[in-house]
Amino acid sequence: MLDRDAALALVRANIPDLSLFQHCLASEAVLRSLADRLGQDETLWALTGLLHDLDYATTKDDPARHGLAAADMLAAELPGEALQAIRAHNAEHTGVAPESALDFALRCGETVTGLITAAALVRPTKLEGLAASSLKKKMKDKAFARTVNRETIKECDRLGLELADFLNLAVAAMQGVAPDVGLA
Ligand SMILES: [Fe+2]
Repeated sequence: MLDRDAALALVRANIPDLSLFQHCLASEAVLRSLADRLGQDETLWALTGLLHDLDYATTKDDPARHGLAAADMLAAELPGEALQAIRAHNAEHTGVAPESALDFALRCGETVTGLITAAALVRPTKLEGLAASSLKKKMKDKAFARTVNRETIKECDRLGLELADFLNLAVAAMQGVAPDVGLA
């Protein structure tokens, strides 16, 4: 398995878009925190979050390949369970259904970063004081961050986490990397 420095170098080399790069770092932080909470492998889950969109530059016009191509690129670098999660994070297009805890963690974890980032960007204090109750309201507002799939965020229940608990965990995780994800 590659180490974090090598993973970050891969992300830098393959993801020129700043906001997508920041999304990868946010996903890494949320996945590490989920692993910590659930007693799972923090290193593996964090790397899976960091690397899950590695193919985006080459698949953005071919959604059915998004996730599959990244798993191919990483076949020699990550264990099978991480590759499977990367394929299943785009299950709606790849047809690879999520099954494991890591599969569901990547799906809800990477998706919630979009909601939290959108919510933080319109607050003067950004992530500071961003409450789960406020995020829940945003989830009910269909016009807010409309590309963020609410149902995927709610897959946190497959990890045994209540939505509010999950939202708080994700905000705290992103606070830990706020300068790196453009939310300081
Ligand atoms: Fe993503």
